[in-house]
Amino acid sequence: MCGIVGYIGKLNAMGVIVDGLGRLEYRGYDSAGIVLFDDGGLLLAKNAGRLNVLAERLRHNPHHSAHLGIGHTRWATHGAPTDVNAHPHMGCDGRFAVVHNGIIENYNELRRELVACGHVFLSETDTEVIPHLLEELYEGDLPAAVQAAVKKLKGAFAIAVVSSDDPSMVVAYRQDSPLIIGLGQGESFLASDIPALLPYTRRTVVLDDGDLAVLKTEGVAFFRQGEAVQKDVMYVEWDEVAAEKAGFPHFMLKEIHEQPKALRDTLVGRVKGGGTNLAEEICLTKEAVASIGRIAIVACGTAYHAGLVGKALIEKLARIHVEVDVASEFRYRQPVLRREDLVIIVSQSGETADTLAALREAKRQGCRVVAITNVVGSSVSREGEHVMHTLAGPEIAVASTKAYTTQLAALTLIAIELGLARGTLTLERASGLLQGIKALPQHVSEILAQTEAIQAIAERLAQSEHAFFIGRGLDYAVALEGALKLKEISYIHAEAYAAGELKHGALALITEQTPVICLFTQPEIAEKMVSNVEVVRARGALTVAVSSCDESLTAAIAHHEIRIPKTDPLLAPILAVIPLQLLAYYAAVARGADVDKPRNLAKSVTVE
Ligand code: AGP
Repeated sequence: MCGIVGYIGKLNAMGVIVDGLGRLEYRGYDSAGIVLFDDGGLLLAKNAGRLNVLAERLRHNPHHSAHLGIGHTRWATHGAPTDVNAHPHMGCDGRFAVVHNGIIENYNELRRELVACGHVFLSETDTEVIPHLLEELYEGDLPAAVQAAVKKLKGAFAIAVVSSDDPSMVVAYRQDSPLIIGLGQGESFLASDIPALLPYTRRTVVLDDGDLAVLKTEGVAFFRQGEAVQKDVMYVEWDEVAAEKAGFPHFMLKEIHEQPKALRDTLVGRVKGGGTNLAEEICLTKEAVASIGRIAIVACGTAYHAGLVGKALIEKLARIHVEVDVASEFRYRQPVLRREDLVIIVSQSGETADTLAALREAKRQGCRVVAITNVVGSSVSREGEHVMHTLAGPEIAVASTKAYTTQLAALTLIAIELGLARGTLTLERASGLLQGIKALPQHVSEILAQTEAIQAIAERLAQSEHAFFIGRGLDYAVALEGALKLKEISYIHAEAYAAGELKHGALALITEQTPVICLFTQPEIAEKMVSNVEVVRARGALTVAVSSCDESLTAAIAHHEIRIPKTDPLLAPILAVIPLQLLAYYAAVARGADVDKPRNLAKSVTVE
């Protein structure tokens, strides 16, 4: 949820760190700070507000002789976004500086103990206990002091530490919060996420929980509980442009337009002949599938909405009972799981705290776990028993788009494989679905070609403070995602309703010109949907149809219509959501909202 960057080497540390933080601002951006070792001591600069505020301050003194430092962009969890609460934090004597991502659950207790020893705290943060602990524990060996300090911490923490007593190193430690090491020539890097490293190195090491790393100019050493360990080096394939905006005004629009490629990349190699390769990839063999009792899909936000589509597909194609839970509820409701249950964890970032906790609960109860995530090396990716990566590439915008459609593609393949393995899906039907899946990237491109018309509708939507999304069956699951997109980036209050449910209350909110986005992709219930739309239209609603059904059905009831290509109704969610993403994007732009970094939100919610 926060961005961390550290550097030691021949370059100007300030430039490397500020540049890296800029590539991580999506992880949190309510304050920023940096510490550099220069002129024989640790120099600190930090402030509330965006990174550019800090960069402007630093411009006047570029610290060209500083070759060691750490930096941080913050998403506040403990303590308001103020200058004093910004990271890095230092102790009483300024010998240690620390940046932290996560939550220290026992910080109050530690703070009381340290105050009793005479330490003076300046901030309201949990993080500040760390430099004060280091002052107590340091005996000339910085890695040993960090190892001793983290033993006293409870919770989630990725930290980086520098000390004026030993400016030959940056020490990093990872527990339940991501941290990646970059290996250079005569220089070493660390960051919360890969984009910060790409301009400098593609050779990376993903730290595991309990890993301590000592970064020096000559290389990086890794330890666990004080013992040296070897770590695998991962070569990052992402090109730097892929992590930038590629000419689009916002990451979100770039990522919406990347969906044809993201779908192709996610599907390629997984669809072969009349089936999929999932029996090998995630062990969905006939025997394994035959033993599945029930399936639980657990996720948050957009990933949860993908899970709702996954439920419908698996129940229709494989006839297995599926429950879908938001992870923050699942982890505390003492879920009744059995060893023969399959738990599917869905998470773009692979670092969402509630989702990771759900994964651990499922493993604790002995269930088989399949994880669907977009980030290789993420906690979910490494802790999932079987992992299916959506190959959408880096998703930078806070609002998830290409991750959602590739999650749907992954869940569709799983549903098909389960159906084939259980004999509830014929080869012929499976082949038809797989042909339809292969055509989806082209269909998405056809919808994206309607951007101008969709933008015009969005600009009308932008004038409203409330909006409704309605649909039936799979369309209702997509309506939920459309409402989330609109509300989280345009700040328009948007709600999704099962269309048949409107008359049980929400209809009272439909007034003259209330925008109602109506989804029509499910032929067998299209007539019912027409009746539902007639009800809102009669009350003056502004109706916008997103439809692949016969135009005759919607011509009389929709003020505006966005046509999407016909496909198998089970595959329609991947297409129906594209106009909803564009409606949300252009409504947000029309309202002058900060599309990629909406207020109060962060890309990855790595704390509860
Ligand atoms: C999606 O647009 C939101 N930004 C948010 O709901 C997100 O989907 C949720 O936080 C889950 O994130 P994850 O997929 O990385 O676990």
